Amino acid sequence: MSHISCYAALSAKSLLSPYKIDRRKIGANDVEIAIDFCGVCHTDLHYIKNDWGITHYPVVPGHEIVGKVTSLGKEVKNLKIGQRVAAGYIGNSCQTCSSCRAGFEQYCLKGFSTIFNSPTKDLGGFAYGGYSKSIVVDDHYVLTVPNGLDPAGTAPLLCAGITTYSPLKNWGIKPGMTVGIIGLGGLGHMGVKLSHAMGAKTVMITTSINKAVDAIKLGADEVLISTDSGLMKAMANQFDFLLNTIPGPHDYNHYMGLLKVDGTMCIVGSIGPTAELNTEHLVYGRRRIAGSLVGGIKETQEMLYFCAKHQIIAEIEIIKMDEINQAYERMLKNDVKYRF
Ligand SMILES: NC(=O)c1ccc[n+]([C@@H]2O[C@H](COP(=O)([O-])OP(=O)(O)OC[C@H]3O[C@@H](n4cnc5c(N)ncnc54)[C@H](OP(=O)(O)O)[C@@H]3O)[C@@H](O)[C@H]2O)c1
Ligand SMILES: [Zn+2]
Ligand SMILES: [Zn+2]
Repeated sequence: MSHISCYAALSAKSLLSPYKIDRRKIGANDVEIAIDFCGVCHTDLHYIKNDWGITHYPVVPGHEIVGKVTSLGKEVKNLKIGQRVAAGYIGNSCQTCSSCRAGFEQYCLKGFSTIFNSPTKDLGGFAYGGYSKSIVVDDHYVLTVPNGLDPAGTAPLLCAGITTYSPLKNWGIKPGMTVGIIGLGGLGHMGVKLSHAMGAKTVMITTSINKAVDAIKLGADEVLISTDSGLMKAMANQFDFLLNTIPGPHDYNHYMGLLKVDGTMCIVGSIGPTAELNTEHLVYGRRRIAGSLVGGIKETQEMLYFCAKHQIIAEIEIIKMDEINQAYERMLKNDVKYRF
């Protein structure tokens, strides 16, 4: 046990500030990771502000973690000291229910533990995340980082990458399909890269005309400005799949007409109640609305190999920990290119 430096928010009203935490002593199946980089996801900000009413303070966010193994429990056989590893949103799950056995720990029927903010055996009772010097993670939830992937650019793959990869994979995205990625932020920019790599015609659907050039550079075949009703109409019935990363409640009906018959819009951005849904678009066109949460551990590892094969990492702006509060201000102003 030692006092570990981290950044914490002490209440919904406070900024992040330096703080000290203790981690649990490593158990037989634990891995201690010295953290080199941690991505800044919009979810971290939702937790700090207690947007979902579930935050336990002090909260140490951070769930896009890349670092090196510094200590291993005696039962951990597949990792080595000094190895480059990663950890994401899922910190624990029952490992016995049908979801866990199928490799979808995020849908654990007993409820999975997030890497931060969930009750744990850690000292303090609640897990602290990756905005810290080190972390202790059960080995089942530790990913290996393939050689050749830049560690800083890899960190955002652990949430933004897997949250977009998992639904694209689940809905069988492949050449011949047209995919729309809604919102060009942390998740959206990974969604464009991954959909493009899977061979689909990929359209960036954005409110920001000034991001159009970037969208094409990231791999979009076309850009659709969603605030232009004429353009939206012209693209009606064109899409097999829409991945919606918008971070708050909004009018889903606005996008549903873009889908072909049998098309699906998958929500990954906003979690919670939203404006009323007009079922007209569902009924006239057998369209569907679905949701998806991060991804399982096995598919996260698969996603990392996919990214290594296709040379995909996140577009990042590296900041120091003491710049985190300005980074959140910029995130709220939609001024991130495209992950801190
Ligand atoms: N389901 C999951 O497992 C999961 C995992 C990670 C994150 N999330 C959630 O996903 C959301 C996005 O996270 P992120 O880190 O990608 O956020 P982000 O970097 O802030 O990007 C969000 C993007 O959405 C667009 N946008 C923002 N407000 C909008 C509005 N009112 N109407 C239309 N478009 C809007 C903007 O893109 P344009 O400028 O291009 O319009 C913005 O860049 C957050 O709510 C986060 O909590 C969910
Ligand atoms: Zn389970
Ligand atoms: Zn996230």
